[in-house]
Amino acid sequence: MAIHYQREKRIFTLQTEHTTYQMKVDDFGFLLHLYYGSSISGDMDYLLTYYDRGFSGNPADVGDDRTYSLDVLPQEYPVLGVGDYRNSALVIHNADGSDCCDLRYVRHEIKEGKYGLPGLPAVHAKEEEAQTLEIILEDAVSGVQVCLLYGVLAREDIITRSAVIVNCGEEEIIVEKAASSCLDFLTGDYELLSFYGRHAMERNLQRAEIAHGCYAVGSRRGTSSHQYNPAVILAEKGAGEDFGCCYGMVFVYSGNFLFEAEKDQYDQTRAIMGLHGENFHYPLAKGEKLVVPETIHTCSNNGFTELSQRYHRCIREHICRGKYSRQTRPILLNSWEAAYFDFNGETILKLAESAAELGIDMVVMDDGWFGKRDDDNSGLGDWQVNEEKLGCTLGDLIRGVNEAGVKFGIWIEPEMVSENSDLYREHPDWAMRIPGRKPVRGRNQLMLDFSRTDVRKLIFEHICDILDQGNIEYVKWDMNRSIAEVYSAVNCPGRVTYDYVLGVYDFLEKLMQRYPDLLIEGCSGGGGRFDAGMLYYTPQIWCSDNTDAVDRLRIQYGTSFFYPVSSVGSHVSASPNHQTGRSTSLHTRGVVAMAGTFGYELATKELTEEEKEEIKEQIVQYRKYGELIQNGNYYRLSNPFQDACAAWMFGAKDQKTVLLNVVLLENHGNMTITYVKLKGLMPDALYEDVETGKYYTGSALMEGGLPMPAEKKEYPAYQKEFRMVNGKDRVQACESIV
Ligand code: GLA
Repeated sequence: MAIHYQREKRIFTLQTEHTTYQMKVDDFGFLLHLYYGSSISGDMDYLLTYYDRGFSGNPADVGDDRTYSLDVLPQEYPVLGVGDYRNSALVIHNADGSDCCDLRYVRHEIKEGKYGLPGLPAVHAKEEEAQTLEIILEDAVSGVQVCLLYGVLAREDIITRSAVIVNCGEEEIIVEKAASSCLDFLTGDYELLSFYGRHAMERNLQRAEIAHGCYAVGSRRGTSSHQYNPAVILAEKGAGEDFGCCYGMVFVYSGNFLFEAEKDQYDQTRAIMGLHGENFHYPLAKGEKLVVPETIHTCSNNGFTELSQRYHRCIREHICRGKYSRQTRPILLNSWEAAYFDFNGETILKLAESAAELGIDMVVMDDGWFGKRDDDNSGLGDWQVNEEKLGCTLGDLIRGVNEAGVKFGIWIEPEMVSENSDLYREHPDWAMRIPGRKPVRGRNQLMLDFSRTDVRKLIFEHICDILDQGNIEYVKWDMNRSIAEVYSAVNCPGRVTYDYVLGVYDFLEKLMQRYPDLLIEGCSGGGGRFDAGMLYYTPQIWCSDNTDAVDRLRIQYGTSFFYPVSSVGSHVSASPNHQTGRSTSLHTRGVVAMAGTFGYELATKELTEEEKEEIKEQIVQYRKYGELIQNGNYYRLSNPFQDACAAWMFGAKDQKTVLLNVVLLENHGNMTITYVKLKGLMPDALYEDVETGKYYTGSALMEGGLPMPAEKKEYPAYQKEFRMVNGKDRVQACESIV
């Protein structure tokens, strides 16, 4: 039983295979947090201490007892206005003008299976894989009820949290801030690992001390953003890949978010993940509710690798859906860096022919095939095929591509409109604009008001018209600017940031229902919306508009802390690279792109015969290891921000096969040797380096490491398979070592 309720002490215990989460309803009905960490037994309420603390409020219920204060006690869902002056999870603006909500326990329910969230993405599991705890809290004065939801996936060591705010009172309230999760730590010195970035350089790791005060990361861009990813790790000081205590919080949402970490006056730490309170004033009339997107938690006493692997499994198997979620994905050839806007049907057919020759599965026609769109200043919103430009119908083009033996995919950006488009000329009020103000443009485009059902309905019809024109097996769903005008001509502006994201989800859900076999790849100028929310609809996301192999090492490293390799869109592009001008070998580019869904994004007509042969070999290699790469255990073996190499490996679950990948980043005269230590092997087993035929014990590879060659090359890459040797082979191998 994953969820246990102890009636006498009103203690809830959420038990997973290796972790325990505990909380308690106290004598006054407050829901206090007791413990989250490695598996323990026993009641942890003895950890609560009570002292008279100056300037910390005491609720009236406690009478003369000045030792009871919510300003000090660890809580599950702290609120503003009840004497806790730390960051709150919920701020409610009442009809009388006050900002207060005093939440007390009303009842709870334990259910089989994992809860779902209406209109929102959420972790899913089979009935027997999960349990749900619902705890109802209520503010007796306003009638506001909060349903705290806990999902427990015991085998996965995953606990999810969400909250539903319900106005059960008579008067309208406004939700000014709402989080799904709060973690209060009584002890510990923590550092925060967060992932910051910018367009074409996403998810750089930053590690910072959580000192007294408040440290926050978030997005007010309408999407989860390139700038801060909605996923963080709280780590005890000094924790590393294989040791130390760490806690992850991953927000399953693709819009504005706020994560706050605070060390309080008694050295306690509070971490809150939820919706951003800016540009958010969500009115709830009597009977209405707001569902707060969920946060996925796991924690580990063994460092980041274990934490990451749990997230990889959870996202791959319990967030991603559809037929592709566990399948190796088609290898793509994308037209963007091959031709940009300068193509016609012939160009795409030529790409398809070369794809067939090289062994690539699919050609994707990127931006530029619709409306009047020869550059990025016009045409968005006009989802009609530009047959004049293509020189053929879309149906004919797709048939031609299929006849070449290649699948066909297409790029769309449904959330956008160019002012220079027929759609905008017809429906200027569909764009998000603030009346009386001039628009803020991004990539010279405006956003469509996706909080409106009528807008979504028409765009959906137009996109379906396109998808119905032939055998389209893949869609790249792009989104190329941030929200600036938080306004809707029809809907309440205070709801827009949230309702917009739910509108996008609604559209994607409908698309999935109508085209269950369609593979959708998410994208927002690369990785500007790389989050667990999107992965519920699109099992892969274009990781970055930066395809430079060396930069990608860092971008993919940051991404790997939470997101599985199967979700990381990664392609081999031309050298010198279009974004950085850096030259790298085709081999290095191939090894780096293989830490993802793999594909190509270059003008195949410019390839030499030698390069074509090498690409064919890369494809054979990727097919051989595809399953191991996408579903195996992923290990980071270095930190490319600090170390002389980027190294990572894929390990089979049975520990019998390993694919080691290394790119050397430093190159100097009389070069020092880089040793790479493998992980996750069986120490006593014997492994063969398949390429050289040399044998090593697992312990040797893990403890001594493997010396990398000192070659006079820039960014050389090595990809090596090690295979466990068994039985008779092992005896022979041992003899050969002797
Ligand atoms: C975005 C995407 C690119 C490409 C262009 C097309 O920047 O991230 O991959 O699709 O748009 O305009």
